[in-house]
Amino acid sequence: MTLPKWAVGLLVAALIGLSITLYAVHRENAYLQKEVEKLTHIVEEHPVELATFMASYERFANKLYLAGKAQNWELAAFYHEELEETAEHLQKLGITDDGIPVSAMMGPNLLEPLKAVEQAIQTRQPEAFTQNMQTLIQHCNSCHQAAGKPYLRLQLTPTGLSQYFEPQTK
Ligand code: HEC
Repeated sequence: MTLPKWAVGLLVAALIGLSITLYAVHRENAYLQKEVEKLTHIVEEHPVELATFMASYERFANKLYLAGKAQNWELAAFYHEELEETAEHLQKLGITDDGIPVSAMMGPNLLEPLKAVEQAIQTRQPEAFTQNMQTLIQHCNSCHQAAGKPYLRLQLTPTGLSQYFEPQTK
């Protein structure tokens, strides 16, 4: 059986159309694959740096403490908010560092003790503020200990939050 000319033409046209579509799909696929490779590369090159979060904690906690000591409650409330937001951000990231569930530990070790500090700010109580800040910093230290980094020790001094640099004697 021979096909009429018009049918052959139609078949050829359909085949050409199909190849063009397939080619476009292939191009799109290759493009997407390249994009995924690019994004994977970016994610691998820029992992969430825990120490960067910690540097903000130290900075905000220091300013929070000094503002509260000066009984500048609006400023203290501001730094409380900053510290809380940063901690919540880290909590949401679900990070585990060297087997330590750092994000999961944020709640009990930072957000909880921070609530007590907030209450002292809202009720403008200097003694409670100092006491709750002490408790907060103790939590920072115990989390470092739990994370296998007992040498990361912080303390509140009259000039603000400071880090111990001397080796621990006992
Ligand atoms: C959930 C546990 C946890 C809590 C809570 C925590 N830290 Fe850390 N911190 C870590 C870990 C883990 C590291 C080590 C990070 C690394 O290995 O890069 C660290 C590192 C640090 C460092 C060293 C990096 C630097 O910038 O010098 C400082 C300072 C620090 N933390 C301050 C604080 C302060 C201040 C608080 C409380 C307001 C706090 N941390 C609360 C787990 C915690």
